[in-house]
Amino acid sequence: MKKITKAVFPVAGLGSRFLPATKAQPKEMLPIVDKPLIQYAVEEAVAAGITDMIFITGRNKRAIEDHFDTAYELESELEAAGKDELLNFVRNVIPKHVNCIYIRQSAPLGLGHAVLCARPVVGDEPFAVLLADDFMDTAEGQKPVLAQMTDVYGYEKCSVLAVQDVPRANTRQYGIVSATAYRPDLELVSGIVEKPQPEAAPSTLAVVGRYVLSPRIFDYLADIGAGAGGEIQLTDGIAALMASERVLAYRYAGQRYDCGSKLGYLQATTAMGLKHPETAAGFRAFLEQTHKELAAK
Ligand code: G1P
Repeated sequence: MKKITKAVFPVAGLGSRFLPATKAQPKEMLPIVDKPLIQYAVEEAVAAGITDMIFITGRNKRAIEDHFDTAYELESELEAAGKDELLNFVRNVIPKHVNCIYIRQSAPLGLGHAVLCARPVVGDEPFAVLLADDFMDTAEGQKPVLAQMTDVYGYEKCSVLAVQDVPRANTRQYGIVSATAYRPDLELVSGIVEKPQPEAAPSTLAVVGRYVLSPRIFDYLADIGAGAGGEIQLTDGIAALMASERVLAYRYAGQRYDCGSKLGYLQATTAMGLKHPETAAGFRAFLEQTHKELAAK
């Protein structure tokens, strides 16, 4: 198997949980402090050595393309105003050696279908998939989550799914794996099912939005029909892949925030607000004050 240089970002989803904020802008453009969610995901991919970013877009997603493109007017205005630091941010949204490729998913047929749309560009290579609304934070000095996974791929040479334990009541929000212990932080996947009810879930080990996948998944995605929710599910493609190839579940090091939910989004904003050099001190003071006021009530 080859080195991983391509990442797929399925970004065609409607973002209905954030309406009306997402009425006219993609949910992936919602900012955490000062960067949109999609930029964090792309930076995580860059840190893992990925050079081709493949966005599976849909209607109303133009802002994502604009974000990773040159912004001539903005740049010349910032330049004329001598705002060098801002100019630098705007020019370096993405490193020069990275390519952005956009493919339109013409109908919302599901995550598996979105990934299949990348096949003509990915070809016969292993690749990564990142769901931008799963925001992955890592501690200072810790490798970003996708880089941890490409490391695992490097020595195990097989598909790797990021997993975490979730409360049983929440299994209906995730792909859930059955797995057996294999190595520290790694399990051998023996089954996977999309969004089972808590009483039917084979475990509480949930797949989160980071995957390293073998290109054979495309053959299966092309064949499987609609699954849970009437959509072509990536989970069903992985279940089929498992019959012929090893799939590992990796308990990543880091903190995931579900930015597809309002609460998760607020938590991510809080965590990052406490880290951002411009806001850290003031935001901390505000939180401490808020904490005191809450405790007094
Ligand atoms: C998708 C996948 C699911 C996975 C989840 C992680 O679901 O279908 O298997 O566990 O992402 O966030 P979605 O959140 O798009 O409904």
